[in-house]
Parts: sequence; structure tokens; C-alpha cells
Amino acid sequence: MYKIPLFDLNFGVEEEAAVLETLRSKWISTGPKNAAFEEKFASMLGASHALAVSNCTVSLHLAMKILGIGPGDEVICPSLTFVATVNAIRYVDAIPVFADVRNDHDLTMDPDDIRKKITGRTRAIVVMHYAGFPCDMDAIMEIAREHGLRVVEDACHGPLSEYHGKKLGTIGDVGCFSFFSNKNISTGEGGMLVTNDPKLYEHAKLLRSHGMTTLSYERSKGHSTGYDVIESGYNYRMDDIRAAIGIVQLDKLEADLKRRAEVRSWYEDACAAVPGLIVPFSGHSEFASNYIFAVLLDENCGHRRDQIRDALHKAGIQTSMHYPPAHQFSIFADYAGPLPKTESVAGRLITLPMYASLEKESVIFIAETLNALING
Ligand SMILES: Cc1ncc(COP(=O)(O)O)c(C=O)c1O
Repeated sequence: MYKIPLFDLNFGVEEEAAVLETLRSKWISTGPKNAAFEEKFASMLGASHALAVSNCTVSLHLAMKILGIGPGDEVICPSLTFVATVNAIRYVDAIPVFADVRNDHDLTMDPDDIRKKITGRTRAIVVMHYAGFPCDMDAIMEIAREHGLRVVEDACHGPLSEYHGKKLGTIGDVGCFSFFSNKNISTGEGGMLVTNDPKLYEHAKLLRSHGMTTLSYERSKGHSTGYDVIESGYNYRMDDIRAAIGIVQLDKLEADLKRRAEVRSWYEDACAAVPGLIVPFSGHSEFASNYIFAVLLDENCGHRRDQIRDALHKAGIQTSMHYPPAHQFSIFADYAGPLPKTESVAGRLITLPMYASLEKESVIFIAETLNALING
């Protein structure tokens, strides 16, 4: 429909072949492909353990469970995120405490605001690395150490993104990833939990499959004949069809991200010539996944955001808005304090097309169209 869509899948014959091979193997639920996907993911991230799950939302839920977060505990989290980050906190009856973003140039959570939100009931911080750009993890880990808090990284946007040489998702206690169809790695639905702590990993693995001590694949291979159930767990498993796609997607990831970095550099150059437009994280020099490309209108033209998005739509350019602030959803009304910077940013934000095969001419066309709409 659109001349330039927001996102394009990086799928080819390799994914088709991987699915066919798995179907023909006749083992389609959690089995060898899951194990291979987990091993590859962990090794690419330099993490000790990776656990494939059915999506990132359940990975976040498992993170809350294995870290022992429970009723009445306070968990500091961003509002400028997908609602799943916050829903997972509520699944264990904990209380989300929203922290503001840093500024127009860095849309991650502000460590100073995190500090202000700490009370005697705070147990954890959930960070979200917006668009694959890292939160200030040195400051956040320092706060966590000072106050004895656990740290969960919602790293859905940032597979292979780095912070001071470390991969996002491996810095806190637990990292959570999504393989939803528009993510850097797509399996349709899917997710991963990573941790360097063997105890947390074993607990997450147990809870992923009903609290059962063995998996059907192990039993079918004769490695084990029976099982016990030692905790009320869930069915949060990924099937081997998706894991097979994930393995192929991982093979493509680095090249895909390098191309995205190039697309971002074209955008940064083209947008520098557009007065009124701010490119958050501009000039960021560490390796980043560039999951999305979000821009901000400045205070002078911010009020025209929806009108400008409509005009981009008419010009054949698909846009989105990441994200409506979670603290303004009715369901979180009880926890909503004012977050002036998040509210200001969210009113002026536009997510522009970003994918590895996006052409330079398209990027220039998008920037020129924006310039005409803002300044014409
Ligand atoms: C920041 C963030 N957190 C959590 C999720 C939830 O991931 P999933 O759809 O795999 O459950 C998403 C994906 O949309 C996301 O972008």
C-alpha cells in the first residue's frame, strides 16, 4: 500500500528452507532447534544462558518471578515503552513506578529521576533501551547496588547493541528480547530470556514449562522417563519451527544491523538540513541495532505532529509513534504521576521508516517531504 513502509521483513529462501527442514524432521515443538537457537543467541551476546520463550512479554513475566518480585513491591520502569514492560510488573501484583526520560536527545530513563522514585518498597528497576540505544547503565547499576535492587533489561529493541563493549541484555540480572515480526530478528512471535546467573536460568527454565522437571523432547529421546512438578509454572515455550527461523535470522543479524547503521547515517545527514527537526541519539558512536528511527518536532512545530503524520501518509510514507506513554493509559491511572518530559516528547514524536533494505533515495525523499511540511 505505502510507497515506503515503516518496516520490511528480512526474509528469504533461507527461512523457508529452515521451516521445511523442521517440518520434515517431524519434531516441531520445543526440541533441538530451540537448543541450537539458545546456544547461538547466548554466544552472540556473550551471555552464560539464553532461554527461548513464546514472546518477550512472558520473558518479562518470568524475570519478575525468578527475581522474587511480588505483591506490593515497587518496580521503577519507563513510561515511554510498549505496555508489555509495565504489564509484566502487574502480573506479579507489584507496583509500577514510572520514571521520566532524560531529554529530547536521549529518550531513555533518567537515572536522576530513578533515584527520586526510590522508596523503602522499591525492589527492582526495569530499563528499556529505546530503539536499541543504551540507558546510562553505569549510573543505573550504581543506583541498584546502593539500594540492593535487581535490574531487568527490556532489550527488545537492542539485539547486539553495545554499551561500553557489553551487549545490551547482559548487564543487569536478566535481559528480555522479542522476535515479534517487526523486530530486528523476526520469528512471527517469540522471545528470549538471557542471564549470567545459573540459578535464575534454571528457575526460568522450570517455570517455562509448567514447573516440570523434564521436557517432552528429553523423555521422547529416552533421556528421562518421568517427571515431577515442583512449582506452578506456565506454558511459555517456543516451538522448533520458530526457533529454526530464529537461527537463520541470527545468521543475518550482523549484516542487517550494519546496513541499518548506514541508513541511520543517511537520515542523520538529511535531517540535519531540516530546521525544526530533532534526531534523538544523533551522533551515537557505539554499535546499535537501530530498531526504529524516531524523530522529534521541536517546540515550535510540535503541536502540528498529527497533521504532519497525516500528510506523510498521503505522500505514501508510513509512520508510527513509539509510544503513547504507558502512565496515561486508564489501566495505570492509580500509578500515574506527572512525567513532564515523557509527555512533551510523546506529543512531538514521529517514527519514520527503518529497515535494512531502505534505499538512500527514499531517506532523502522522506527528509525533503518533512522539510516541506515543517518549513514550507
Ligand atoms: C519495548 C518492548 N517491550 C516488550 C515487548 C513485547 O514483546 P512481545 O510482543 O514479544 O511480547 C515489545 C514488543 O512489541 C517491545 O517493543
